[in-house]
This record gives sequence, C-alpha cells and structure tokens, in this order.
Amino acid sequence: MTQPQNTTSELPVVPQSYWLASTEISDFPALSEDIHTEVAVVGAGMTGIVTAYLLAKRGVQVALLEAGHLLTGTTGHTTAKITAQHDLIYDEFLSHFGEEQTRFYYEANIEALEWIKGTIREHGISCELSEEDAYIYAASEADQAKIVKEAEAYRRLGIPGSYVEQIQLPYPTKGAVVMHHQAQYHPLAFLTVLVEELKRRGVRIYEQTEAMTVEEGSHPVVVTRQGHKVHAKHVVSSTHYPFYGAGGFYFARMHPERSYAIAVKASAALPKGMYLSAGDPKRSLRTVKVNGEDFLILGGENHQTGQGICTIKHYEALQSFGEQHFGIREIGYRWSAQDLITLDKLPYIGPAASDTPNIFIATGYKKWGMTTSVAAALLLDKQISGIASPYTDLFRPSRFHADPSLRNFAVENADVAKHLIQGKLEMVSRDPAELGKDEGAVVRVNGKRAGAYRDSHGQLHLVDTTCTHMGCEVEWNDGERTWDCPCHGSRYSYQGEVLEGPAKKPLATIREASKV
Ligand code: FES
Repeated sequence: MTQPQNTTSELPVVPQSYWLASTEISDFPALSEDIHTEVAVVGAGMTGIVTAYLLAKRGVQVALLEAGHLLTGTTGHTTAKITAQHDLIYDEFLSHFGEEQTRFYYEANIEALEWIKGTIREHGISCELSEEDAYIYAASEADQAKIVKEAEAYRRLGIPGSYVEQIQLPYPTKGAVVMHHQAQYHPLAFLTVLVEELKRRGVRIYEQTEAMTVEEGSHPVVVTRQGHKVHAKHVVSSTHYPFYGAGGFYFARMHPERSYAIAVKASAALPKGMYLSAGDPKRSLRTVKVNGEDFLILGGENHQTGQGICTIKHYEALQSFGEQHFGIREIGYRWSAQDLITLDKLPYIGPAASDTPNIFIATGYKKWGMTTSVAAALLLDKQISGIASPYTDLFRPSRFHADPSLRNFAVENADVAKHLIQGKLEMVSRDPAELGKDEGAVVRVNGKRAGAYRDSHGQLHLVDTTCTHMGCEVEWNDGERTWDCPCHGSRYSYQGEVLEGPAKKPLATIREASKV
C-alpha cells in the first residue's frame, strides 16, 4: 500500500485519492480489431463493471470498453459512502413526484446497498465494510427547519431514521436527521475483485479504447477512435457523460459540479458515523483506516465546474475546517471529483431515447454514485434481460417534468449562454512570459485569448481556450492542472487532451509556443 505523502499538515502537491493510492488495478489491452458480442458496455467505472458482472453472471456475452484506465474516473475519487441518504431530498421529491415514486427512489438505493453487502459476503471480499448511521446536520435555524421537514418525510415513507438533537461532532449543531443502517467501505478493494470475476467469466475488457459513436440499428455498432467496431445487440453507455446520447441533448439537461476531499490524521477523537452538512459550505465527514490508523475524510466545497474560486483555495478551506475542529497532524491525500446533476435531481437510467431501445445510458448520479451506480446496473441488467422493474419510469432518461425540469432547464441554459458570451468578452492582458514554473493562466497571445501552462521544466504549453464541444471558453484549474469548461463540464489536460466529455476533440494547440 502506498504510504501517505505528508507528515505535516501541508497539502500534498499531487492530487491523489486514497482509494487509488492503495489499490493495484490490472492492465488490459486496447481493442485492436473488430469484434462481435451480445452487450457492449462502454465505461469501466462502478456502473460499467457491475453491469458487466450482472450480465456475465446470467451467461450473457459482454465486452467492456474503457477510454483510459479502469476505475480512475469518478469511481476512484469518491468519499465512498454507501447510503440512500442523498442530502435533503425526500421532502423535495415528495412534493415533485409523490409518495410512490419517492419510495421507489429510496428502495432502489437500499437494494443497491444490500446488493453490495451481499456480494461482499458471497465473495468474502475484504474491503473495510462497516455499517454506519448517516447524518445530515444543521448549522443554522433555517437548516434546522429543513432537517425537521426531511425527518417528517422519512416518517411518511417509513425510512428508518428520525430527527436527533445530539450528534457526535465536536462543534455546535442544531440537530440532525439520521438514516440508520447505512455503510462505508473501500470501493476499489471491492471492485477489483469484481474485475477478477469478469475475467473468470470470460468478459473481454479493453482499455485505451475510446468509443466515439454508435451506428444505430437492430444490431448497433460501437465505433472507436481507432476505427475498430464492436458489433452488439445492446450498447450501454456507462461513461460519466454519455458518450452517445442518441439525440437526447443530455449536455443541456445536466450540469457538472466539482467537489473536493482530503484525508487527514487528526488529534481529536473521530466521530462514529457519516456526516453531511445541510447548508453551505458543504462539509462531508467519514473515517477511513490508512495503514491501520484512523484518518478522517473531509469533503465538500462544491461548485459548478469552471466557475469556482482558485482550486487550491477549496482544499485550503477544508484544511482550515479540519484544523479548527479536529486538529490536523498529517494530510495524507487530496482529491476532487466531478459529478453531473440532472434537471430534476433523479438519474437518467434506461434507453437513451424512445426510438433506440437497445442503446442504454446511466448518468446524473448527483454525488451519490456508490449506491446509484449499482441501482443503475441492477436496472440495466433487468431491462436488457427483458425483466420488468418498478423503477423504469422513475429513471427513464426521456422524462421531462414541467416542474422542476422546465424551470431548471431555463436556468441552466441561461447560465451556459452567459458563460458563452462572458468568456468571449473578457479582457485578458497577461503575458505568458510572466508565468513561473508549474503555473497556468489565461493569457494573450498574438492579440487573442489563449491558455498557458509552464511545466516544472520551464516548458510552456499553449492551447486555444475555445472548448471544442460548443465553443465556451475554458478556465484554468490550478489544483488539478487542467482546463475546465464552465458550460457543460468538459475537462482537458494542460496539453489540451480531453479528460472528460462531452467534448470529444482536444483543444487546439498554439504552435507559436516556442517563440514566446
Ligand atoms: Fe459544452 Fe464546453 S461548451 S462542455
């Protein structure tokens, strides 16, 4: 296991999640020929791996394709709470969707939690599973009123939990709503065992194999960047952002948010349970064992991608919160994640469009992918196998509720339009020659806006900051050294390569770099 990086309370320079640092993940070859299979699953995070596992267990032939390396996307950058307590949602969902659909949401996620526990037992997986109560706590009277309403929603829905006055946190709160019998674990210790199961069951796994599009039809064909074809009966897009939306305009029906986490060794005693603040700034807490020692994972600082303050300040805010309330002795790891939020806060799971019944998507988990990804896999497995599920309508990707979807559609797309225009009008005067080593910024080159990063060897990398998706202007993310788009969340490396869609093409590089 990798040792924690710091013995002081300095932030680690390299952002690395504890889960990835402590797990060895097998390598797989790239696809180098055309193949035929029954189901092509595109995207090897938690949704893709569990979907492939469930189908393979039924005897279905599966090929699993991953653009990068297995498990290094959002699944590797979670806080790994396995819970149906997804922030304050049940009171809100009751008012939007009614009692039956809201209960379905809870039950789908509890089934996912139980499936994870059952699979851990079945394979005897050692992944630090522990049952925990989950709390959302109030820090103000306004939040307390929301907590009380959420507890009332729990009562109506029969969710085991209630309002509680006292919790274990070492700072004053105004009560909390607790959901009993939830869990936490090490997600990659769990999923790497499932990957071994996939191998054992003959699932073909390909890495560095980016799916670009689907040729629709009764036997859809996935086409990769290298031009190879995967002929299938069914295609599942379990990429974070659907790699193929079948005309569903998913980029306009979701918005991306980033959040941050640090894993620290604290001086104070750590609380039992998993915690989330009801209000802003968001604070998420849980414990984890690192080399046998108790660490605290502190998360939060959510903001829309490309629209936050200087990234490192988000980590510093978590650090200062940790120092104030727990006394930090060591910061082992820091990492960030990107999540997609749909118009009505429910995930999109099912056929990508009504006229493409054999092309499925699963996305928009808000920040709760540990349970929702498994709920998605359980539903997709049923839908592909022709088994009815009570959750089909609730998660149907083509749904569009007048309230709240229509209102949120208008708000989100007005925000995109604002950023599209704002980025073009912004006056930039900075000269790339001013950049120090390991520094990036938006600069002016040949009279035009450009993105510049000077690496630790002093080499300057210049890119065109126009996002290749729909033309918004990307912003520098100094915590991850990436270019992030404020419109739909595409992310690029400092050299312009696509790290996260919906963009598919890299940022143009500016070749005059060597002259600057
Ligand atoms: Fe859509 Fe950049 S314009 S992600």
